[in-house]
Amino acid sequence: MQNWKEVQLAVAALRRRLGAALPSRPDAAIILGTGLSGLVERMEDTRSVPYADLPGFPVFTVASHAGAFVLGRLGGRTVLVQQGRCHLYEGFGPDKVCMGVRVMAGLGADTLILTNAAGALDPQFDAGGLMCISDQINFTGASPLSGPNHEAWGERFPDMSAIYDAGLRDLACACALELGIRLERGVYIGVRGPQMESPAETRMFRRWGADAVGMSSVLEVIAARHLGMRVLGISCLTNKNLPDCMRPAPLEEVIAVAGRAGKDLGRLVEAVVTKL
Ligand code: 6GU
Repeated sequence: MQNWKEVQLAVAALRRRLGAALPSRPDAAIILGTGLSGLVERMEDTRSVPYADLPGFPVFTVASHAGAFVLGRLGGRTVLVQQGRCHLYEGFGPDKVCMGVRVMAGLGADTLILTNAAGALDPQFDAGGLMCISDQINFTGASPLSGPNHEAWGERFPDMSAIYDAGLRDLACACALELGIRLERGVYIGVRGPQMESPAETRMFRRWGADAVGMSSVLEVIAARHLGMRVLGISCLTNKNLPDCMRPAPLEEVIAVAGRAGKDLGRLVEAVVTKL
């Protein structure tokens, strides 16, 4: 059985910790990726619960990720934020990678806004830009749905013909236009990592139709669709990843660029949440 029991225990623990501040249905669940924690500073009336306080919740190792759920107000709405996530490359399985999504759905969230840091494969995209994810390629070789299906979560063979919600995408584009933020659109390919791509892999991903590449999100999004959540995904393009002029993208640079672009991302997510 998928980690149903573990998720229920974490849901109960989080409920206890958040108490009366937790509404029956948060307006959105938000996952913040590498270098993108700045959004939390835009929130009011926050309450934070470290992952370490939740039984069975993965406590991870990457210093660039804080590890806590944060409940608070953003743009006049109540949002539940997963500040930092764990990854397959750290050795966690798909169940652990997707536990945050399942916990937030268990607390009543039916809309997921997910962010990540990614390398740009489309040569037209600039480093430091933002991309609204239109579709995805799961190239991790893993699925959070393998093993017996838990019917209370969703069906055995969930549809993936429209993974990212078209209405939320349109809303994000309209908000970006209003705020004067350039927002690209494209396909995100999720890989296992932790190694970066070789030029041959980069060329292959581009020919497959991917516009950005990263090491997260695709499994969480599959779990979210399985649960019937509406999903909006926004990538922060931290570096250009072009097969004919490859250069290293050190973690410090990825974090620094995400930190800067994260300001635009924060404004954008706040605007979207306001209009949900
Ligand atoms: Cl270039 N590749 C991958 N796999 N993940 C990234 C990235 C590149 N840039 C940021 N995250």
